[in-house]
Amino acid sequence: MKFFDSHAHIDDGRLDNKYLAKNLKDAGIGGVVIPGVDRKGWKRILEMAEEEEIFYPTVGIHPSEVSDTPWEALEEMEELIKNNPQIVAVGEIGLDLHWRKDNIDLQRDWFKAQMELAKKYKLPIIIHDREANSQVYDLINEVDPYETGVIMHCYSGHVPLARAYVEKGAYISLAGPVTFLNARVPKEVAAVVPIDRLLIETDSPYLTPHPFRGKKNDPSYVRYVAQEIADIRGLSLEEVAKVTFDNALRVFKI
Ligand code: NI
Repeated sequence: MKFFDSHAHIDDGRLDNKYLAKNLKDAGIGGVVIPGVDRKGWKRILEMAEEEEIFYPTVGIHPSEVSDTPWEALEEMEELIKNNPQIVAVGEIGLDLHWRKDNIDLQRDWFKAQMELAKKYKLPIIIHDREANSQVYDLINEVDPYETGVIMHCYSGHVPLARAYVEKGAYISLAGPVTFLNARVPKEVAAVVPIDRLLIETDSPYLTPHPFRGKKNDPSYVRYVAQEIADIRGLSLEEVAKVTFDNALRVFKI
């Protein structure tokens, strides 16, 4: 049995990367997408992916980083995409109105520009949406990148919105919160999203699944996300592992 973690910041300095890939393989991890969040992190992610076959790199500017990022970073991103066919997606990109609202216009401009770039190079996008559900939904629909792939990372919205995304062709990725004892909505989402549109992730080093909540997260914990989905849907852990693995290979074109 193998698991695919569709979103883990294992380039984060807080994780000990030295033995990480070996430990992850031993724990049954067959793939990990490392999302780019800022300009200075892209090189490290590409290097990590170069060293380990189970690591897949992406490039992107996270909405929390846009105010510290000059526009020429967009050209740099395009160059990286052109020269590194191993890049599997543009992300994580989107809107975050939890930390800042004052730069919303800049967040929207960066989000749109990166979606257009992804579309141009036929790459899927990994979406970060925090407290901006309707704006994110509207902007994605305006650019309409569904044909090349849309992944709603750590999906935290409600069921009707999840259904709307799935109808358009998006994938819903669930993380640790689906395992939390008091999490009602993510469990409802896990129950109704068509199984061929579900992805699993850890968002390491954040959001460690129950029963390890509070500890440092790493991709080996993705099995607890899979187990929760299996329990909710009355499937075996193997089935959820296999189908979410296949879904990841399909959307990331691996
Ligand atoms: Ni993330």
